[in-house]
Amino acid sequence: MNDNVLLAEEEDGIAILTLNRPDIMNAINFSLLHALKEKIENLRVKQGIRVIIITGAGEKAFCAGADLKERALLDDRQVKEFIFTIRDLFTSIALLNKPVIAAINGVALGGGAELSLACDIRIASMNASMGLTETRLAIIPGAGGTQRLPRLIGCGKAKELIFTGRRIEAQEALQIGLVNSICSQDDLLDECKKMAAMICETGPIAIEQAKYAINYGLETDIHTGLAIESNAYWVTIPTEDRLEGIAAFREKRKPVYKGR
Ligand code: COA
Repeated sequence: MNDNVLLAEEEDGIAILTLNRPDIMNAINFSLLHALKEKIENLRVKQGIRVIIITGAGEKAFCAGADLKERALLDDRQVKEFIFTIRDLFTSIALLNKPVIAAINGVALGGGAELSLACDIRIASMNASMGLTETRLAIIPGAGGTQRLPRLIGCGKAKELIFTGRRIEAQEALQIGLVNSICSQDDLLDECKKMAAMICETGPIAIEQAKYAINYGLETDIHTGLAIESNAYWVTIPTEDRLEGIAAFREKRKPVYKGR
């Protein structure tokens, strides 16, 4: 495995993962898939890391999807293996116990757009261009796109974008709710880090439970969802952090949360 396909740095509770194949628009091959999978599993249990930011190397691309040069060499069984692996990986990102922010610094097409959809929050630079373009290759989004896009932006708009394979620019992505916000490319990482830093001020167990309640609650009816919310709340009640939050409020100081 080539370790350089994924760069990882950590600072102040934030892990930044950079897809690092800029010569081919950070397209995902098996090597990058395996590197990302290993890193995500590692970050799941890593103490002290509260938020993960995923971005792409260079100024052109977040990720242009599956590596079509590698794809041309795969037989049918290997294509299936790739699809299962990428779908499971993106689901593990969506269900990760920590928030994940996509810093979309350029084109996000096919699997690249699906990677951003698996993240909790998407912030895009003005030069970003996004699309689920798979139908133009006579295939369909296979890493969660047919499911996550309509859940995020609604069925009609998702069908339009998937059926046409149309690419949209940052402004339209913002307008239809595909991204949370847009900013200049120079500011992108700082904007993501600012949001991550705010999340780092909150209680770790609270964030894990909030993400859990939103993710699982959304997939069910409201009464079941509310029961999931209650149970997630109950997890926070016996924590040291909850008492620390109340004490800090009383003492007019910033709370220091320990994830306990
Ligand atoms: N897989 C493999 N290589 C890719 C790639 C992909 N998904 N996307 C881009 N590249 C490569 C190009 O082949 C080119 O390499 P080359 O110089 O060796 O030919 C390099 O990245 C730069 O891309 P290029 O097409 O020259 O740049 P561009 O700015 O004109 O266009 C894209 C960029 C991303 C719009 C265009 O490359 C594209 O449409 N890529 C395919 C995206 C796609 O369909 N993804 C879904 C896959 S399921």
